[in-house]
Parts: sequence; C-alpha cells; structure tokens
Amino acid sequence: MFKLKPLPFSYDALSPHMSKDTVIYHHTKHHQTYVDNLNKLLTKDHEGMSLIDVIKHAHQTKDTAVFNNAAQVYNHDFFWMCLSHNEKDHTPNDTLLMLIERDFESFSHFKTKFKEAALTQFGSGWAWLVYCLNDKKLKIIKTGNADTPITDDHMVPLLTCDVWEHAYYVDYPAQRGAFLDVFLNHLINYSFVSENLSKHDL
Ligand SMILES: [Fe+2]
Repeated sequence: MFKLKPLPFSYDALSPHMSKDTVIYHHTKHHQTYVDNLNKLLTKDHEGMSLIDVIKHAHQTKDTAVFNNAAQVYNHDFFWMCLSHNEKDHTPNDTLLMLIERDFESFSHFKTKFKEAALTQFGSGWAWLVYCLNDKKLKIIKTGNADTPITDDHMVPLLTCDVWEHAYYVDYPAQRGAFLDVFLNHLINYSFVSENLSKHDL
C-alpha cells in the first residue's frame, strides 16, 4: 500500500503565486485520489515493489489503470518537490546555469521553450526538463495525461510542471500561460533540479 506523501511546505506557503485553496485541493483531493485508486488496484504481483517498479511493470504489461494512477502519484510527488517559496531556490546555481546556457542558448530562452512546451501540451499533461543520458544534454519534453519520462531509462527527470487544469484553474481561470509565467519566475525549486542532476555524471 502506498501513502500520500506530505508536502515539503505548508499549504499556504506558495501564496499568492499558488493559493492555499489550490494546493489543498490539488494535494488532498487529486493527488490523494490517485493514491487511493492505485491501492485499490494493487494485487499480489505488486508485493514488495517500489512505486517506480509498479509504474515500469504496468507500462511493460500495458496495465493502463495501474499505470495511470501510479504514474500520477509519482508525477505529483515530483511536482511538489519542484516548487519552493524560498527566494534563494528560484535561480539556478552556476553549474546548472552553465548547462542551461549550453543547451538552450540562455536562461531566458530556456524559460521561453519550457513555456512553449507546456502551453502546447494539448489537454492534460506535464512539461519536463530532463537530462538525457544518451547524449548528456538537457532537454524539454511534454507528456500527455499520466505519461512520465521514468519509463525511458535514458531520461532523468529534473523538473516538471503540472498542466492539468486542476493545477491552475482556481488561481488563473483559463490562463495556462499566466500560470506558467508565475511557475517559471516565482515557484521553481532549482535546488531540487540541481540535486536531481548531481546524482549523474555530467
Ligand atoms: Fe495535478
């Protein structure tokens, strides 16, 4: 059985950029529902598996119901870690900035490209910054619905933004772009991005 992970900050910590109501609904309703649904779907086959094992197993066996709920649990766990109310987390450190400038020309261009990917994800899904182990480069990708880069062993997720409507509709009604501007300028936890990158050879 899996449990809903507590948030790494208080429910009102991201206000006014992300309201207390949005965070409460997102975490205690949407995220919790994925955890509950996943637990109902688990069988003896899943005994002893980590969440990532469950996702990879469901992906390989095309078990859509388990995959969707398990991947949404993982994606949300990861998303919350990508957010911070602490001003010092909102800018990348020198190493990360150097890699961003190498692979996206400039920090500003990186933000433009990330916003473009997130805006053009048709319907529900996620925008990601990943580290590709194949060519050792940073890349921006988007995934639909519950899809997640961890099903590709060559991709290391570094940062994600939830672009399901429940992530922004209360604070930015029908304005995904406005939400993305706030996400990119006031919410990203670049310390978490660097931490994810530090586990790999650059
Ligand atoms: Fe969400």
